[in-house]
Amino acid sequence: MIKVAFFDSKEYDIASFLKYEKSHDLSFKFLETRLTEDTVELARGYDAVCVFVNDTVNKAVIHKLCDFGVKVIALRCAGYNNVDLEEAHGRIRVVHVPAYSPYAVAEHAMALLLTSIRRIHKAYIRTRDFNFSLNGLTGFDLHGKTVGVIGTGKIGRIFMDICRGFGMNIVAYDKFPAKDSGINYVELNELFEKSDIISLHCPLTEETYHVIDEASIKKMKKGVVILNTSRGALIDAEALLDGIRDRKVGAACLDVYEEEADIFYEDRSGHILNDELLSRLISMPNVIVTSHQAFLTEEALNNIADTTVKNLISCFEEKGTCVNEL
Ligand code: NAI
Repeated sequence: MIKVAFFDSKEYDIASFLKYEKSHDLSFKFLETRLTEDTVELARGYDAVCVFVNDTVNKAVIHKLCDFGVKVIALRCAGYNNVDLEEAHGRIRVVHVPAYSPYAVAEHAMALLLTSIRRIHKAYIRTRDFNFSLNGLTGFDLHGKTVGVIGTGKIGRIFMDICRGFGMNIVAYDKFPAKDSGINYVELNELFEKSDIISLHCPLTEETYHVIDEASIKKMKKGVVILNTSRGALIDAEALLDGIRDRKVGAACLDVYEEEADIFYEDRSGHILNDELLSRLISMPNVIVTSHQAFLTEEALNNIADTTVKNLISCFEEKGTCVNEL
């Protein structure tokens, strides 16, 4: 029996994972709390921990997990910027779900873009109040506009396909351009200068940290729409807010936020939000924030559970090789 402690587990995680307990030799403990240095004690006695994007898997946490005899850290997500892989190497195994539904994220990015530029979020509230005025709801056509895609991996490419369907021109930047892909790669500065819309689909690394900052916003077109469904720290949110206040940035659609860890995924309505910057961003008429929701489709949840269970089982098998080990 493989005993797994799930951290930061939500109703939808439990629903998608529970069915595997019966059909496999697995025992799950679903914990609401996030994994942090303060909560790592809860992992004592388990063979594996299953974590998500905002769990802290730093040096101190890894040391404790190793002390407790935990053998595997199973990420039920693709990104692993929250894990100190160097520290884990050779001491505890780290597996992830490299792809579960790139469509979910790419489609959410397009949903945010359309909502924002066609003012659907405003119209929805108006008509519910029987306000049928169109004043202030003027949008713009996507057809013929240029979208700049940063990161042309699984999600970036699907987003580009969707944009092609809208008749948009596409420029892209990737540190590792895909050969013979027919993608129109340009340098980052050219992408900033040419794009009416910029969508981020690269991982968070030292190089991509604050790739959208004061300097890059200066290079962008007036009225640019910025989409971020990747990781919050790709954008310097203070610089973004300045760009919005200066009327340089036309709109921002954010599914992620640099300081989201203590805020997102929970119902905080009725509480005073202790994050001035996020409050100010949300108060802007041309900013849409979703709470790291882009992955949340039935297909993605099923794929996440399926791959995570396969990862866990293969780690504890006799041969113990796992294709999704980091
Ligand atoms: P992927 O690994 O298929 O593609 C990432 C691309 O970024 C690759 O082509 C890579 O060469 C490129 N890249 C790496 N370093 C770069 C740099 N310095 N500058 C520009 N490009 C660089 O990853 P995938 O599946 O397309 O996911 C992209 C990102 O989406 C993930 O890193 C994750 O942060 C985010 N994500 C967000 C979700 C959400 O719910 N909001 C869910 C899943 C992923």
